[in-house]
Amino acid sequence: MKFFLSSLIITSLVSQVFCANNFAGIGGSNSKGGNSAYTCRSQTDWNNLANNARNNGFRAIRITGFDCDALHRASRAAAAAGIQVLAGIYIAGTVASTTVQVNNEVQIFRQAYAEFGAGRYVGLTIGNEVNDSTGNIMARVYDIRGYLRSVGVNTPVSTVHTWVRIRDEPALCGADFVAANAHTFYDGGRTSAQAGTFVFQTVVPALKSRCPGKNVIITESGWPSRGGRLGVAVPSVADERTALQRLNCAAAADRSVSLYAFEADDQLWKGNDNERSFGIFGKINLQNDVFASC
Ligand SMILES: *[C@@H]1O[C@H](CO)[C@@H](O)[C@H](O)[C@H]1NC(C)=O
Repeated sequence: MKFFLSSLIITSLVSQVFCANNFAGIGGSNSKGGNSAYTCRSQTDWNNLANNARNNGFRAIRITGFDCDALHRASRAAAAAGIQVLAGIYIAGTVASTTVQVNNEVQIFRQAYAEFGAGRYVGLTIGNEVNDSTGNIMARVYDIRGYLRSVGVNTPVSTVHTWVRIRDEPALCGADFVAANAHTFYDGGRTSAQAGTFVFQTVVPALKSRCPGKNVIITESGWPSRGGRLGVAVPSVADERTALQRLNCAAAADRSVSLYAFEADDQLWKGNDNERSFGIFGKINLQNDVFASC
């Protein structure tokens, strides 16, 4: 009886752990979901996104740019919802071509850090898959990190790149943490059912071995629901659900990694149906399906 009871308790504890949302956070565009033109999210839109994230068990929202007053709006929304922000400054083009914009946005980050507090921010990323040399990218990252430290801002700083580029050029994880996008759909030859094993058995071990001692954040992983297939990688709502379910279950087994779901809602301004259709809220039943099924 004693054994039976304690195994019941263990079973219920385990199933609680495994039925939870095991993603750390979710990314969102600065544009309203479902719009064919890029249209800034209002404060209300950000509040809705942050509440939706919190109510589904995400502990953070990730932004990839500061346009649309997104850092302040997302921070205000996250503060009200009691969740964090993984803040990202966007670099379009080369590092050199964006010096003024990025310097301005570093100041915007300083202001937000002062207003919303250190604890609001998981980290600050400089660039998302920047098309420039690793040397140029990291010089910028170290420069900004040094500056922020000199003014008392201690937020961890890094740059986001594809997991393949970080594996091949691990200087990209030389700052405070690994920030890698890992999209099984685009990596070739894998089904939605392999999304979890691919990220946690191929991507994460490669990053841990190339970036020893660094915290790993998988900044983007998700699955599209529309557009053309890539070999065995099929975009559909059912496949998107399967991929998120497998990612969530795989994340339960490795607490050393933070995984960010991609992304909050469909973004119709993007280049093709695959890219437009990674949206999760309003399409995928997380609480009673994806998170309840491993
Ligand atoms: C990256 O930069 C190179 C060199 O400037 C350019 O030829 C290439 O088209 C760029 N790639 C993308 C995806 O923008």
